[in-house]
Amino acid sequence: MEKKYRYFGRFSFHWFVLLAFVCSLVPRAQGWSKEGHIMTCQIAQALLKPEAAEAVRNLLPHNVDGDLSALCVWPDQVRHWYRYRWTSPLHFIDTPDNACTFDYSRDCHDQHGLKNMCVAGAIQNFTSQLSHYTEGTSDRRYNMTEALLFLSHFMGDIHQPMHVGFTTDEGGNTIDLRWYKHKSNLHHVWDREIIQQAMKDYYDKDMELLLQDIQGNITDGIWSDDVTSWKHCDDQRSCINKYATESINIACKWGYKDVGVGETLAEDYFLPRLPVVEKRIAQGGVRLAAILNRVFSSDQETEVADEASHSPT
Ligand SMILES: *[C@@H]1O[C@H](CO)[C@@H](O)[C@H](O)[C@H]1NC(C)=O
Ligand SMILES: *[C@@H]1O[C@H](CO)[C@@H](O)[C@H](O)[C@H]1NC(C)=O
Ligand SMILES: *[C@@H]1O[C@H](CO)[C@@H](O)[C@H](O)[C@H]1NC(C)=O
Ligand SMILES: [Zn+2]
Repeated sequence: MEKKYRYFGRFSFHWFVLLAFVCSLVPRAQGWSKEGHIMTCQIAQALLKPEAAEAVRNLLPHNVDGDLSALCVWPDQVRHWYRYRWTSPLHFIDTPDNACTFDYSRDCHDQHGLKNMCVAGAIQNFTSQLSHYTEGTSDRRYNMTEALLFLSHFMGDIHQPMHVGFTTDEGGNTIDLRWYKHKSNLHHVWDREIIQQAMKDYYDKDMELLLQDIQGNITDGIWSDDVTSWKHCDDQRSCINKYATESINIACKWGYKDVGVGETLAEDYFLPRLPVVEKRIAQGGVRLAAILNRVFSSDQETEVADEASHSPT
């Protein structure tokens, strides 16, 4: 427990609890819960090759002591600040109701129709910024620390199935329902409730234990044979589109399925979906590591350089 709160040095623990409580009252859900993002980033950081690990360490502010996951929630914290309001549409993709498909040119825009302003465009954007950093040609307008934090956060969001959801219900945000005994909504169930329930039921409310279980299944468990195909990528742009497509497919098959406004979701919903959530966190982490390893490798594979030259900014 101690480790988790270390980074809030300037706040007392009680202030942190109060802050967390106030944040929990903010209505529109914000992406994987804190836990989802922290686990995605811890999985990724453990898989970095030495060059990428060093680049990440150099980009992180000193107060986090080299721990990427300590700042992976930062983009959710700043998205309502005036200075970062432009990042707000970058956390998700709204797709046409019931289409269950993702089409970049059709769907990747903000609510005013501005192109590339969605989580898929943002991942491309910040990957491209970071690859210029490695090449020593980075644009000084861009803050490379922020590029790293945004990329790391958005790789989590794009793997949260309900972040690539339907337009009218805002990715399930307007589908109010009950989770066991308390009020929630469908988006929030996938951001947070399923993870919290798993921690409560199986991991003694300890995120570390859940994380270790996921990591074990990546290295020599149920997913160890799949990891190579998860991270395989010849063309970053189409890989990102694939991740978004996987999410909307899962949203249709598992998220929206059998759910209506006002219903109560419990065990019957939770049990089959938990493995899906765990796998998405694992995939997000493995793929974030793969991007960082490519982007920070000194013998840059052509794909990254190529992508960077015609990437949206
Ligand atoms: C890319 O990042 C820059 C700032 O770093 C921002 O101005 C631009 O809107 C971003 N575009 C997308 C699609 O994320
Ligand atoms: C980059 O962004 C981080 C986080 O917002 C900030 O702390 C840092 O001062 C910025 N660096 C520069 C050079 O502006
Ligand atoms: C890891 O795999 C085991 C089966 O070997 C499974 O029971 C467990 O739920 C998995 N845990 C996670 C977090 O995926
Ligand atoms: Zn987010």
